[in-house]
Amino acid sequence: MNQMTATAPATPILPDAQTVTSVTHWTDRLFSFRVTRPASLRFRSGEFVMIGLMGDPHPQTGKVKPLLRAYSIASPSWDEELEFYSIKVQDGPLTSRLQHIQPGDQIILRPKPVGTLVHDALLPGKRLWLFATGTGFAPFASLLRDPETFEAYDEIIMTHTCRDVAELEYGRQLIDSIRTDEMLGELLGEENLAKLTYYPTTTRETSAKMGRITDLLKSGEVQRDLGVDAISPNTDRAMICGSMGLNTDLKEILEGYGLEEGANSDPKHFVVEKAFVG
Ligand code: A2P
Repeated sequence: MNQMTATAPATPILPDAQTVTSVTHWTDRLFSFRVTRPASLRFRSGEFVMIGLMGDPHPQTGKVKPLLRAYSIASPSWDEELEFYSIKVQDGPLTSRLQHIQPGDQIILRPKPVGTLVHDALLPGKRLWLFATGTGFAPFASLLRDPETFEAYDEIIMTHTCRDVAELEYGRQLIDSIRTDEMLGELLGEENLAKLTYYPTTTRETSAKMGRITDLLKSGEVQRDLGVDAISPNTDRAMICGSMGLNTDLKEILEGYGLEEGANSDPKHFVVEKAFVG
């Protein structure tokens, strides 16, 4: 892991500019960064905003347009900065450039948070499943640092599936900080921390638990490992954030258990982040 931190923010030069305060490279495919937060920005944990950089000038007109993508906010709503967790795609229009940002640089951030991975889109329940693959962990890094998540449920199960162990590290450190950081413990309630179970799995490198979460659920291995009863609409709620394949496959599995998909305007048993591109 290679970390850089800024000292003094620069003067904004872009529309909706925010200044990068730190960047952490986790692997050659993954990085996270923190930026200044617009004073007026309020959001619900789990929501996303559009962020990006100015694109290249149009070859004929010379006009420059912003290149923006949806990014889940990974920091909690009480944090004075904003954190994001991103993939690096070498030929991706945005991330091929975004991966080179340094503390003190500016990014564009449209301050209009939206999204479906919010508590308001779920009916009250006893057990909350948070299912992530890859950088889909980001909205849960926000939700897991929100006291409401711990107040609303008796049990929270965070599953994270990545190709290899190094790709789990951002999530592993986040879970670790929730369990050991004094300030976070106090905020979330020390007595609540035992509610959290972390279930990391890998698919392309040997680790303590291997396999796609979808296969592990279908075979009943997750339920056996965690000693939990069958998933049911009476008790279980779920949030899903990952690749298109995961979203589709997991939706089908949860519907098989009788759970129905909810939305902000129609809260039900589970929600899927469709804006996410992992
Ligand atoms: P796999 O290695 O079997 O493709 P990626 O880095 O490509 O976004 O993938 C992140 C993780 O999500 C990988 O471990 C990958 O497993 C897993 N994954 C990809 N598609 C699905 C799916 N349809 N259901 C469950 N897990 C998936």
